[in-house]
Amino acid sequence: MSNRRTIAAGNWKMNKTASEAVEFVNALKEKVADTASEVVVGVPFVCLPGVVAAAKGSNIKVAAQNVHWEESGAFTGEVSAPMLADLGVDYVIIGHSERREYFGETNETVNKKAHAIFKHGMTPIICCGETLTQREQGVTADHVRYQIKVALLGLSAEQVKQVVIAYEPIWAIGTGKTATNEQANEVCAIIRNTIKELYGEDVSNATRIQYGGSVNAKNAAELFAMSDIDGGLVGGASLKIDDFTIIAKA
Ligand code: PGA
Repeated sequence: MSNRRTIAAGNWKMNKTASEAVEFVNALKEKVADTASEVVVGVPFVCLPGVVAAAKGSNIKVAAQNVHWEESGAFTGEVSAPMLADLGVDYVIIGHSERREYFGETNETVNKKAHAIFKHGMTPIICCGETLTQREQGVTADHVRYQIKVALLGLSAEQVKQVVIAYEPIWAIGTGKTATNEQANEVCAIIRNTIKELYGEDVSNATRIQYGGSVNAKNAAELFAMSDIDGGLVGGASLKIDDFTIIAKA
């Protein structure tokens, strides 16, 4: 058994208005008040001020779903780390496969964003994962190791202890097709081993690694019980309060 604290994080993606978000978090905070796991809601930018206020003093931490690596400047439509930190944001999800596929996120931008997030006192949730083709070609381990190595470049051991990594096989996201407990744990162990090679066992034992991809109220407990899985990054099921409550308590 590790002493890593389980972290159940909702990734709302582009869902809920600011007022719906506040209503949701006000209800959620009662339900997860006595939960041992760390509970995080990853909400759209416009929901952040209301959600931070609603979550204040509760067991819920707040994540943004993206950030720009520069502090300010001519980057129309972007939001910087100091802006998020000023709002009281705790975590920032970076490198999600949807951002890689539709918005040009790369391992290099993930790395730059990770540095910016730490510089402003927040913590990155770094996503990685293979496509179905890569899994079938047998290159899952190589692909994920490469993603993680570049994402962590230049980070200190102390920072890597804080980092949260979300292993999300792309073929399992939003498809209802969850990786088996063993498949998910195997890649989370490969990620932990990669961190061990780079930073040593002390660090790799501290870093929390989540599984994501069709986590739901039924499968969360057994996934989170696996040796190298420290919780989940949850999309669809995090939008439903009863389901997410069960996942947060798993
Ligand atoms: P899902 O999404 O739980 O809806 O599969 C997970 C994610 O994309 O983080």
